[in-house]
Amino acid sequence: MKVCIAYESKFGNGEKCAHYLSGAITKIGHETEVFSIRDVKPNSLPQADIYVFSSPTHVGGPPGKMKKFLKKMEIGKKEAKYALITTHMDPNTKTIEKMEALLEPKGLTKASDGLKIKVTGMKGPLEDGFEEKLDEFAANILGEK
Ligand SMILES: Cc1cc2nc3c(=O)[nH]c(=O)nc-3n(C[C@H](O)[C@H](O)[C@H](O)COP(=O)(O)O)c2cc1C
Repeated sequence: MKVCIAYESKFGNGEKCAHYLSGAITKIGHETEVFSIRDVKPNSLPQADIYVFSSPTHVGGPPGKMKKFLKKMEIGKKEAKYALITTHMDPNTKTIEKMEALLEPKGLTKASDGLKIKVTGMKGPLEDGFEEKLDEFAANILGEK
C-alpha cells in the first residue's frame, strides 16, 4: 500500500512524528511519501491508499494553515482512507474531531481512530513512548494488527 503523510508543524514535533511514522510504515513493508503542507498544494498530493494528516493543536483546534489545506484538498482516488494525528498539551484537545469534520465532505473512509501525542511543553519535547504509539498507529492504519 501507499501512504501519503502531510503535516503542519511549528516547532518540529509533528514533523518528527511524521518522519518516524514514515519509517515505521516502511519497516512493515509499505510505501510512504511525507510532505509539509507548506510545501505542497492541497490539490497536488500524490495518489495513495491512505492519507495521514498531522497537526498541532493551536487554540483548541488545528491551526489556520491546516484548516485551509483540508478544506481545499482534492484527492482523485475516492476509495482512499485517512487517519489523523495531533500533537497537543491539553489531553482534551478536539483537534482530531475538528479535522474529521473538515474532511467529512471529501468522502474518505477512516483507517483508524485518531492519535493524540502529547508534548511536554509548547515547543516540545514529545512525550516518552511516542515511538511505540506511532508503531502501533502504523500497524492499525495498515490493518496489520
Ligand atoms: C499559538 C499556539 C497555540 C496553542 N494552543 C494550544 C491549545 O489550545 N491546546 C494545546 O493542547 N496546545 C496548544 N499549543 C501547544 C501546541 O500543541 C504545541 O506547540 C504543538 O503541539 C507542538 O507541535 P509542533 O512542534 O509540531 O508545532 C499551542 C501552541 C501555539 C504555538
